Amino acid sequence: MKKPIVVSGIKPTGILHIGNYLGMLKNAVALQESNKYECFYFVADYHALTQRYDPKEKAKEIFDIAVDILAAGIDPKKSTIFLQSHIPEHANLAWIFNTITSMGMLERMVEYKEKLSEGHVPNVGLFDYPVLMAADILIYKGEYVPIGDDQRQHLELARDIVRTFNGRFGKTFKEPQGIYTKAVRIMSLDKPEKKMSKSLPNGCLYLTDSPEVIRKKVKAAVTDSFSEVGYDPEKRPAIANLLTIYSSFSGELIEKIVSRYKGKRYVEFKSDLAEVVVSALEPFQKKQKEFMKNKKYVMSVLEEGEKKARPIAERVLAEAKKRVGLI
Ligand code: TRP
Repeated sequence: MKKPIVVSGIKPTGILHIGNYLGMLKNAVALQESNKYECFYFVADYHALTQRYDPKEKAKEIFDIAVDILAAGIDPKKSTIFLQSHIPEHANLAWIFNTITSMGMLERMVEYKEKLSEGHVPNVGLFDYPVLMAADILIYKGEYVPIGDDQRQHLELARDIVRTFNGRFGKTFKEPQGIYTKAVRIMSLDKPEKKMSKSLPNGCLYLTDSPEVIRKKVKAAVTDSFSEVGYDPEKRPAIANLLTIYSSFSGELIEKIVSRYKGKRYVEFKSDLAEVVVSALEPFQKKQKEFMKNKKYVMSVLEEGEKKARPIAERVLAEAKKRVGLI
C-alpha cells in the first residue's frame, strides 16, 4: 500500500536553535522513524532569498542546514532530502497558485506583517512566501506537514489554495494537515514573553553551542520570585518554559519533573537542565562535525534526493497544468 506523504522544509537563514529543533526537526525525525510515511524534507533556499542576505554567505548557510538535517537524524536511506531550488517545479506550481490567491489573503499573514514591523522592506517574494510554501507541499501531494506553531497560518493558506483549486479545476489536491509538537513554542531564556530567536542571542540556545555556553546561558536564564519550580505558563512563563525544554529533551512528563524538584532551589534545577540539554545535543553535535568535514557526501545526498523528488514533481506539475487549461 502507498504510504501517506509527509513534506517539510527548513529555511536556511542562520544557525538553528533548540526552538527549531523541538518545533519541527524532532517531529520530522519521528515521522521518518515510524516507517509509516513517505517523507520529503528539503532546504527552503528560495524562501531564504526573501530576506536581506549576503550572497557570499548564502551558499554556506544552505550547506550548513543540509548538514543539520542529516545530523538531526534525517536519514537519506529513509527520507528524500534535497534543495528546493534544485526542483524548479516548486516555483512553477507557485506561479499557478499565485493566479488563484487573493492579495487580501496574503496581506493578512501575521509573519509578513511582523517582518514589515521589524523594518523589512517588503519585496514581492516576501509577500508571496506562503504561496511558494503551499506549492512546496502540494508538488508532492503532501498530506502531513511537521512544522512549528508559527507556520500554522501559512498551512491554513495552503489548505485554502487546495479548496480554491479543486473548486475551479476539479479535485486534484488534498488539504494538507499540520503536525505540531506539544512543545509548540520555546521562549527566549532571558525574555520569556518572546519566542526564542536569533535576534535575542543571550536567550537563545543554538544547536551548535558548546557545553560551557549552554551551562552559562541556562544559569543566566530568567526565573521568578517563587521558591520552587511549578508549571503555570500564564503566571510563571519563565519557569514553564524551562520545564518545557527539560521535558522535551528528557522525555519525562512535566509533573514528574516538578515533583522531583519540590523543595529544591532554582540553581539545582537549572544546573540539571543544562546537563539534560548538553547530553541531548551531544550526538547531534558529533554527527554535525563529521558531516561538515564530508562535503562530498552531503552533496551526493542532495543529488540523490533531487533524482528521487524531481520525477514526482514533474508529474504533479503536468497534471496541474492540464487541469488549469494549459496545453
Ligand atoms: N516557512 C517554513 C518556515 O519558516 C519553511 C518552509 C518552506 C516549509 N516551505 C515549506 C515548511 C513547506 C513546511 C512545508 O519554517
